[in-house]
Amino acid sequence: MKVLRSVQRMQRLAQAWRRASVPVALVPTMGYLHAGHLSLVKRARVLIGSKGRIVVSIYVNPTQFAPNEDFSKYPRDLSHDTRLCRDAGVDVIFAPSDTEMYAGKRDGSFSTYVVEEKLSAGMEGVSRPTHFRGVTTVVAKLFNIVLPQFAVFGAKDYQQAAVIKRMVCDLNLPLKIIVGPTYRESDGLAMSSRNKYLKGELRAQALALSRSLAKARSLVRSQPKGVSAKLLKSELKAFIEREPQARVDYVEFFEPNTLVPVKSVKRGTHMAVAVFIGKTRLIDNAEM
Ligand code: PAJ
Repeated sequence: MKVLRSVQRMQRLAQAWRRASVPVALVPTMGYLHAGHLSLVKRARVLIGSKGRIVVSIYVNPTQFAPNEDFSKYPRDLSHDTRLCRDAGVDVIFAPSDTEMYAGKRDGSFSTYVVEEKLSAGMEGVSRPTHFRGVTTVVAKLFNIVLPQFAVFGAKDYQQAAVIKRMVCDLNLPLKIIVGPTYRESDGLAMSSRNKYLKGELRAQALALSRSLAKARSLVRSQPKGVSAKLLKSELKAFIEREPQARVDYVEFFEPNTLVPVKSVKRGTHMAVAVFIGKTRLIDNAEM
């Protein structure tokens, strides 16, 4: 397994693979890898076969964090990530520096962004208005550097996956986006690099997210005619905020392909939540 830190080296290797018709799958990450990320690597291997190459990018992308967010303290551990990737059969880790990604050329300034304007407007886009511009920009750059035929994303970040699929379609990018299911701890907590922040009591309180999804689902399944989204949202907010350190950012019910909010929640409607547990902002989602 190689660890490449230079954009030029990564791109040259990708071009050589392309000339040799070697299939490539990319798993973009911000590192501090966990079993959820590794489930995407396994999926990538199935997609490209034993002769293909898997690239995991590890890059904490500054443009997707707002100034008040956790960019500087986002957990990083490249040697641990390297071990996990080697054991998982990854071929290349691409771990560029900020200079490589955003200031390596010309006068060191960066001024071109990729913006998706519809699917990124709601939910995360309301709470984090500059977030998806950073995500789509860095992911488009990664696609151009690694030249993959497949890129694998997690359903844990449901809106992100939808925005990226739309970008690929709208810009005719020549690759296929695959979305793997959300990987969870045995008690239901969705795996996340940010779970590291959940010290003491907070870890148990974070179960409010997955429990709210389960509660909503069973309610919806018991009412085939549909349940009012407004009513359900306020009930779930109260349910989640029974945990002393939990504060709901949003609960949303929407159509799974368009992300358009619905008034009446039925089987098949999608639900997403964002909740602060103490200072840590967690997200989760599920089909109802
Ligand atoms: P990161 O949060 O590191 O996640 C990398 C990928 O792993 C994303 O596609 C995410 O949806 C997926 N993932 C995270 N937790 C998961 C879980 N419990 N089960 C399944 N998949 C999971 O998402 C990002 O990084 C960044 O925004 C990135 C796309 C890399 C752009 O910077």
